Amino acid sequence: MKRAPRLRVPHPGPRTREHLNRIRNSETRAGLTFGMSPETVVVERALGAEVEDVDGNVFLDFVAGFGSLNAGHCHPRVVEAVREQAGKVHQAMSLGSRTRVELEEKVLSLVGGPSPKKILFGATGSEAAETAIKLARRATGRQEVVGFTGGFHGRTMGALPFMGRKNQREGLGALVPGAHHVPYPYPYRNPVAREAKECAEGIIRYIDEFMSNPVSGWGEVAAIIIEPVQGNGGMIPAPPGFLRKLRALCDRHGVLLIIDEVMSGFSRTGEMFAFQHEEGVEPDLLVLGKSISGGLPLSACVVKAEIADASSPGTESSTYAGNVLACASGLASIAVYEEEELSKRAAELGGIFLRRLEELTERHAVIGEVRGRGLMVAAELVRDRESREPLAIAKVASDLALKKGLFLYPGGHYGNVLAFLPPLVIDEGDIDTAVGIVDEVLLEAGSPN
Ligand SMILES: Cc1ncc(COP(=O)(O)O)c(C=O)c1O
Repeated sequence: MKRAPRLRVPHPGPRTREHLNRIRNSETRAGLTFGMSPETVVVERALGAEVEDVDGNVFLDFVAGFGSLNAGHCHPRVVEAVREQAGKVHQAMSLGSRTRVELEEKVLSLVGGPSPKKILFGATGSEAAETAIKLARRATGRQEVVGFTGGFHGRTMGALPFMGRKNQREGLGALVPGAHHVPYPYPYRNPVAREAKECAEGIIRYIDEFMSNPVSGWGEVAAIIIEPVQGNGGMIPAPPGFLRKLRALCDRHGVLLIIDEVMSGFSRTGEMFAFQHEEGVEPDLLVLGKSISGGLPLSACVVKAEIADASSPGTESSTYAGNVLACASGLASIAVYEEEELSKRAAELGGIFLRRLEELTERHAVIGEVRGRGLMVAAELVRDRESREPLAIAKVASDLALKKGLFLYPGGHYGNVLAFLPPLVIDEGDIDTAVGIVDEVLLEAGSPN
């Protein structure tokens, strides 16, 4: 069969329009369906990187549930595991579960590192990020937490303050206090140093100054929270060596390092976890979600045992935390990542993807930078390469791509990044198709005026 996309009718087709009208009447504007596109796809079924809508149009999915489907949609092994578990037990809050403990042991072994660790499940990434911050505050007795510009840790009241996104905070008034923000190591847009090493070292010195100087305005810092590859921010890998330097800085100041791998975890970047690209980096707390379960609601905070032990029994949990159906899906998904060697595949395909996008830069002056790690890939759009002024057409471009049958992820600090998070089971042909569509979209929408 011809590879995706396969469009039978122009998108949005008649059935899609009918469903969108119903959805418009029942769903809030604040929810995500229309947050991405007013003419989003109404899905009927999906497999691998293909999503079929209610009109029989088949789309190529380079968003993969925002990174929650590293093994692709409905991988047969995952479907089978969920089916089997569903016939045994769904809900086991406050009960022990064989499936859950198997997943706990598996995730702990994948995280590794010299310090003994424990795991605390949640249902969403936001919940796990909040939990990490709570555990860090209890363990250190300190209140302040440092996040990065453009960071994303979730939309709940306890996760929001630690990411630098004012549009998500509008109208909410006072949030959890004690948040500071520092520039993410984003050499392309660093106002002082645009060379990666210099940018990374400068930011470490900057944080060090704020922590050391008694009149800096900062108090006692409990933790720093960072994405090793900033996802929502526009697929920005921290420069090599940055995490190691951040680890050392945290150690010097008795500050805990929280690494948020909700998006970058589970083979996505070419290693099981992105922090493992660098020797000698061990998080004190690791925030996991999305592909931990391959599409069912599950998240986790992996925490050094001595930090975990500072919280009293029963202070952290929720009804669906560690839900056994989600755990069964997680165990099967991780088996797929390992047996199908998806880390290796992500690294190889990521390299190919970057080369194809680089080739496009010759045809499109609006592409200012192409970057990524593994299959977290992005093209940043600018009005001109000299000034690097952002060209904020990511949303327009992703709507156009959708009409041509490709899901891509509009993002970036300035709404000017075309981001790609395909399932790791795609092949080179899918990359060629996606890049071909991006080429067409930029011809149509990519004029700086
Ligand atoms: C790095 C990161 N942390 C946390 C979250 C929040 O996860 P959730 O949407 O499951 O609450 C996200 C979601 O995109 C994320 O990318």
